[in-house]
Amino acid sequence: MENRNIRTIGVLTSGGDAPGMNAAIRAVVRTGAYYGLKVCGVKRGYNGLINGEIKEMPPRSVSEVLQRGGTCLMTARCLEFKEKAGVERAIQIAKVFGLDGLIVIGGDGSFRGARDLSNSGLPTIAMPGTIDNDISCSEYTVGYDTCLNTVKDAVDKIRDTASSHERCSVIEVMGRAAGYIALEAGIACGADVILIPEKKTDFDEDVLRPILEAKQRGKMHAIVVVAEGVGGVLEMAQKIEAATGIESRATILGHVQRGGSPTVRDRVIASQMGARCVELLLEGKANRIVCQRNGQITDVDINEGLEMKKHIPDELVELARKLSV
Ligand code: ADP
Ligand code: F6P
Repeated sequence: MENRNIRTIGVLTSGGDAPGMNAAIRAVVRTGAYYGLKVCGVKRGYNGLINGEIKEMPPRSVSEVLQRGGTCLMTARCLEFKEKAGVERAIQIAKVFGLDGLIVIGGDGSFRGARDLSNSGLPTIAMPGTIDNDISCSEYTVGYDTCLNTVKDAVDKIRDTASSHERCSVIEVMGRAAGYIALEAGIACGADVILIPEKKTDFDEDVLRPILEAKQRGKMHAIVVVAEGVGGVLEMAQKIEAATGIESRATILGHVQRGGSPTVRDRVIASQMGARCVELLLEGKANRIVCQRNGQITDVDINEGLEMKKHIPDELVELARKLSV
């Protein structure tokens, strides 16, 4: 797979971190080495590209990172990069460091940056690394499974105390614009109510009614899982207590959901996707997102990928409703 135009490549992580990003970086570094490429790590996302924080990563530089959460390259949100001047500066710096291609691991904001770089002459390939699982063109985003398992562990523990005290626990999970974490973790934890930003919530109908019906059947505790994008969990717990007489507590799980050692699924998919990113560059491709579709690792054009729409699976919403009877 020799490609004389691609001798040196860069890799960066951008946006919110996700468990498995390290596995992806490792896969890029080791696959690059396998094909005889020089691989450089770019620190702090697009900030590092603009500021020249770029260093060669030999294969052994990624020893012992596979099992760690976070990202050894650090990540950042870089406002400067959203401006034309920021992208132009990044292109200049990439030339100074001799980068013939770049791999970006992040979410859809990061993909827009990757597209700008490709359009400005630096062949760039992106892959999804975000706990939110909200990338339209991909069935899966690296970090999601680890996050779901973290949420599952936390909600199971909260359930122990909620049922012992006969309380209602209202738990906010991450997902500012997407409800995948709330929906799947909610099903996995047997939540009585799941609220996601994609579905309009009627407090009386969607929250109170199921809790009151359960109370009539003699159940005095409840688990309500709320996506961050719906919000208002403190107020919601107070309103539930006032309307049902069931003592209620709110918990915001927060950034604990973004950390931790990646699960097997995240490690394997991150490794597959990272390796594929390198191969695409070697095949002379640019401006593509490596993704999972129909269970297979494949790739789509970034512009097409960004325009796709991802829907919350209605059958899962329905299942959650049925099982909370
Ligand atoms: P994520 O990649 O997780 O969606 P952000 O939306 O914060 O995270 O984006 C990460 C970085 O990507 C931003 O700080 C910025 O540098 C770059 N970025 C985001 N949106 C755009 C855009 N529309 N055009 C160019 N670059 C962008
Ligand atoms: O990583 C995605 C995400 O976790 C969103 O669900 C959340 O809204 C956001 O990042 C919060 O990130 P931060 O606290 O770093 O701004």
